[in-house]
Amino acid sequence: MTATPAVPTLFRQATDLLRVAGIMPVVTVERAEHGRAIAEALAEGGLGAIEITLRSEAALAAIAAAKRDVPGMLVGAGTILDPVQARDAVSAGADFIVTPGTTPALAEALAALPIPCIPGAATISEMLALAALGFESLKLFPAVPIGGLALLKSIAGPLPSLRFCPTGGIDEAGAPAFLALPNVVCVGGSWMVPKEWIAAGRFDAVTESAARARALVDARPPV
Ligand code: 3PG
Repeated sequence: MTATPAVPTLFRQATDLLRVAGIMPVVTVERAEHGRAIAEALAEGGLGAIEITLRSEAALAAIAAAKRDVPGMLVGAGTILDPVQARDAVSAGADFIVTPGTTPALAEALAALPIPCIPGAATISEMLALAALGFESLKLFPAVPIGGLALLKSIAGPLPSLRFCPTGGIDEAGAPAFLALPNVVCVGGSWMVPKEWIAAGRFDAVTESAARARALVDARPPV
């Protein structure tokens, strides 16, 4: 019999982080100060984590600002495409890392980082390769275009130990069906933070949307 480690591994911490978050807002910021404002608005609505994508110049500064100014919020770096970006995100203070897809080199680099990582995968072979490195929770991306609910139901049998954060094409109306699946620990999406709201400074709308998302998480079956 193997002893259970007292300290959870980073792989397990990634699963726990996703489970607690329930819904992961995915945000691309044009200005660093928006990192703080959006994180605050989401926290006020009851969400505890945010993925800020490295798709803009402002992303790393936004991550640092959200970490500094919104205590208790878990701030992740998303759209990490290579090991250099992953290390930059760690240096900026990111709590966790998310990738849209994962090359073998990126997967090795993620497995060696000091923070939880949620690698992206779209095929069974990619999922198996990540599971072989120890990852237990993956981002399924882009979830709806590649099969959505039917895909997740199909892979539950052959890959019973893996858990998923489906992201891509999911909105408020679609989220509950994903949250109801036993192999889904979290649902990701940008619907709580549309660009138009951010540009117009409508952070109150972000808070309202986050509160509705929180209610969806609270209503899901126990995971
Ligand atoms: C991501 O990077 O995870 C996606 O852009 C989020 O997808 P969505 O905009 O379709 O929710």
